[in-house]
Formats: sequence, structure tokens, C-alpha cells
Amino acid sequence: MTNSSEKQISFWIDSTPTTAYPAFSNRIAVDVAIIGAGIVGLTAAIQLKKAGKTVAVIESGHIAAGASGHTTAKVTSLHQLIYADLIHQIGVSKARLYGESNQAAIEFIAGLVAAEQIDCDFSRQSAYTFAEPATELDQIKAEVNAAIKLGLPASFVQETSLPFAIAGAIKFDNQAQFHVRKYLLHLAQTIPGDGSHLLERTRVLQVEEDQENPCQVVTEHGVINAHDVIVATHLPILDQGLFFAKTYPQRSYLVAAKIDPTKAPEGMFIGSGKDSHSIRTTPYQDGLLLLVGGEGHKVGTVTDTEACYQKLETYVRNHFEIDTFAYRWSNQDMVSFDGLPYVGKLTPFSHHTYVATGFSLWGMSKGTMSGMLLSDLILGKENPYAELYDSTRATPFLEPDLLKSGIDVAARWVGDRLKNLESSTLTEVPKGEGKLLTINGEKIAAYRDEQGAVHAVSAVCPHLACIVSWNNAEMSWDCACHGSRFSCDGKVLHGPSVKDLEQQIIV
Ligand SMILES: Cc1cc2nc3c(=O)[nH]c(=O)nc-3n(C[C@H](O)[C@H](O)[C@H](O)COP(=O)(O)OP(=O)(O)OC[C@H]3O[C@@H](n4cnc5c(N)ncnc54)[C@H](O)[C@@H]3O)c2cc1C
Ligand code: FES
Repeated sequence: MTNSSEKQISFWIDSTPTTAYPAFSNRIAVDVAIIGAGIVGLTAAIQLKKAGKTVAVIESGHIAAGASGHTTAKVTSLHQLIYADLIHQIGVSKARLYGESNQAAIEFIAGLVAAEQIDCDFSRQSAYTFAEPATELDQIKAEVNAAIKLGLPASFVQETSLPFAIAGAIKFDNQAQFHVRKYLLHLAQTIPGDGSHLLERTRVLQVEEDQENPCQVVTEHGVINAHDVIVATHLPILDQGLFFAKTYPQRSYLVAAKIDPTKAPEGMFIGSGKDSHSIRTTPYQDGLLLLVGGEGHKVGTVTDTEACYQKLETYVRNHFEIDTFAYRWSNQDMVSFDGLPYVGKLTPFSHHTYVATGFSLWGMSKGTMSGMLLSDLILGKENPYAELYDSTRATPFLEPDLLKSGIDVAARWVGDRLKNLESSTLTEVPKGEGKLLTINGEKIAAYRDEQGAVHAVSAVCPHLACIVSWNNAEMSWDCACHGSRFSCDGKVLHGPSVKDLEQQIIV
């Protein structure tokens, strides 16, 4: 449970105005339709519009309120520990391109903020990956050597401004942080006009592409015609590219507390271990807000998500001098099995439909890079990173634990179908909770609200028919297979599903 002053909403969303762009109503034909108004969709849209294309950005909810509105918003090419592994897996020249492309994304954001005077608390910061136990030091040193070999601004340090002891850290100079929603709201307001559109509350259901005619983007309110389409819905809502099988959804939690600036760490930090914490500050009221993230797990595999917040708050209290928590929120990102995002065509046979996904919790730089890359592909411009991130590449580096994660999904799919669900009568559902039931052979997800009314929906996810599970902190039904989420009464909150859970009438 939150304390009385703690809000369960992203600080970025709470501290910026709600947007009210129109829903789709009239016929629209544009050069490029962009589905999803997160950092990928909005970056691609401004680039394409600047190059003279007409665009329509189509958002099912409100702009910058998906993963991009719930991030920690560190803009860095230091992605915990990746470069030593990348050199091992794909060689020095490709690993160098990875580093360069993320550095280019940082400079793109910095350049835009300066050129358009975007008021978004942008500041240059050092980024650190730190080892608390000495047993993790070898990995840190290997990462420093790898990053220096690739020309990245890396060094090894043993002292940081963290208020607890560390064994050592890798430091990247001249990275950045910002208020992501202030930045994205600025990008958004430059889109409408001169034949371009920004549409909210318009869910896209399907995209039809054939070589002869423009693409048809089928929305819940009608059809939009476009020459090219970018599916920037986090995980693509279109299944043809099988991206749901090449990535897995990782949920992560954030808590935020006001901190005395003299006791706050300077820079952006992440631990090197598996259960690491991510740390930064941001301007808040007359001082600073400390943001700490962690307690990640695969979507839908933890029911007592309230415990994740509790553990995170305990970690913060044990490591920092803070009083009360001001915010807490959580969200998810798609992790790619080979560590590289997928950016390019939907399938090898697509001519006009593009995707970007698999940012592995580093989508501020990779999402920006994807928007830049996709706009280049549509404009027919050379881009040095197109081959590395080619979305139609084979994915040859399945590590055993990642392979296991794929097997988990398959096992859940089969297992869920064979076992009876937890209970069989609605009376077993307590107030304020959700339970899975089997009633008359049907798998039911039932939630009882605080007034005692039961909301019963099918427990079968409309995406590819896995069984959803209850998430008690967010009061949602979550699907472990590919990360779709639904409200307690079955409305879709997060794709790839474009449909709600089916309503059930229990007699
Ligand atoms: C807790 C957390 C912390 C993170 N911290 C960092 C960090 O510090 N640094 C970093 O680099 N990255 C971080 N990331 C990762 C980063 O936030 C994401 O990778 C990035 O925001 C993804 O952007 P996106 O544009 O792909 O997706 P989104 O921002 O989710 O945008 C997709 C949009 O598509 C819309 N949509 C979905 N389906 C439809 C449909 N059918 N029709 C129309 N619209 C649709 C959604 O509503 C959404 O607005 C973090 C992620 C999490 C979860
Ligand atoms: S998200 Fe794919 S089956 Fe539920």
C-alpha cells in the first residue's frame, strides 16, 4: 500500500499537462502513418516531417504515456554491462557500431534540445555501472577495457558520490538525463499542420499492405491511407515478424523520494549484478527527487507485485537518507534475446511496413536511434546502423537462460490449458482482489471491486490465447507470454493485444 503522500503515478506524467489531441474522425491520407506516440514514433515523425513528408501519428491512448512516460530517462550508451559480451558475440566492428549509434542518439537529443530551446531539464551527467561486491569487479574491468577499445568515453573509478561503499565502477563521461515527457510533448506539438496529424484515443487494429496500393491502417474509428507505415507500438501489434518470439517482456519498478541535494548522488548509476538498482535524481520543487528502479521480473510471473515496491523502498531506505516516498510506478520493456534492438522492415517480404522493438530497458538512446534510422530508411538515405539492427536478421545467440525464458512461455501456454484454474466459485474472490476461476469449463478472470460487484472476463488473452494472471499492485490482468496487460475489468492497457478480454456473464 502507498503511504498517504505517495502517488502511484509516473512523476513525468504527474508533472506535465494531460494532452487532448483529437481522435481520428475524417478521412486522412498521408505519406507515412506512425502507430504509437512514444519516443520511437515521435522521433521518426519529426524527422520525416522535417524532410517534407506528411505524417499521421496514431496513438491508442495519450502521447508519451506508455513505456516512454514511465522510464528512468537516462540517456546513455552505458547499458549496464554489454560491450565485453558484444565483442565476444558479434566482433569489434559491430560492437563499435552499437556504441557509436547510441552516442549518436545522445548527441541528437542534445542538439535538438539546444536548437529548439526545449525546456526539459536536460543535463549532461556521468553514467556509472557499479559493483558493490568485489566478486563483480572482474566484469567491471573487462567492460572498461572493452569500452575503451571501442572508442567510448570510459574509465575505471573506485570513488563515486554514492553514499555507500562500492568495489569499483565503470564511468562514461558526457552522457545525459532529461525530463522525458517535457521533451516528448515538445516534439509532439511540432507535428500537426501542413497535412500532418497527431491523433490520440485511436487504437489501430490492423495494417494491410500490398505492393500496388497505399497501406491501409485500420483503426477503431476508420481507415487511414499511407504510403509507408511505422509500427512503433513497443512490441509490434502485427504478429507477422514474430517479434513476440524474439523478445520477452520485463517489468520493472520505480520509487521516488525528495532528497536533500547535499546528500544526493551526482550522476546516473546502475548496479552490475543481476538484481541491480538504477539510480538518478531530477529537479523537484525547490530541491531534488531521487529515483530508484529495480525488482524487475518477467511480466505476469509475479502476482504479489506490491511486495516488489516494498522491497524497493526498503533498499532505498537502507542506502539513502530520505524521509517519505513521493511517487511509485512500474512499466515494462521488451528485452531482445541477442541484446540488439530490431529496427527495419516488419518481415523480409514487407515493402512499406517498418518496426522498432527490443530495447532491453535502454530505449531512450535506442528508441531515438530507431526513429532516426527508420526515417532514413523511408527517405532512402544511407544509415550506418541499418544492417546491424536489421529487424529481419536471424537471432543466433540464444543463451541457455534466455532459451529457458522462451521455454517458460511455451510451458505456460500448454500448462495453463491442462490445469484447472485456482477456484470455481465467485464467492472465493475477496473485495479488491482478482482470482482465476474455472466455471462451467470456462476460464474466468474475476475481480471484485470495493463495493462488492464482480467483474468477470475471459482469462484467455486475445493475442495468442495464454492465460492471464493477477497483478495486485497495479490491479490488472497481465499476460506472461508476450506482455499484454488488461485493466481489472478487462480493457486492454498494453499490447500486443489490440482487443479487450471478453466479458463473461456468470449465472
Ligand atoms: C521502468 C523502466 C525504466 C527504464 N529506464 C530507462 C532508462 O533510464 N534509459 C533508457 O534508455 N531506457 C529506459 N527504459 C526503456 C525505455 O523507457 C523504453 O525502451 C522506451 O520508452 C520504449 O519506447 P517506445 O516508443 O518503443 O514505446 P512506448 O513509449 O511504449 O510507445 C508505444 C506507444 O504505442 C501505443 N500503442 C500501443 N498499441 C497501439 C495500438 N494498437 N494503436 C495505437 N497506439 C498503440 C502505446 O499506447 C504507446 O504510447 C526503461 C523502461 C522501463 C519500463
Ligand atoms: S500477450 Fe501474447 S498471448 Fe498474451
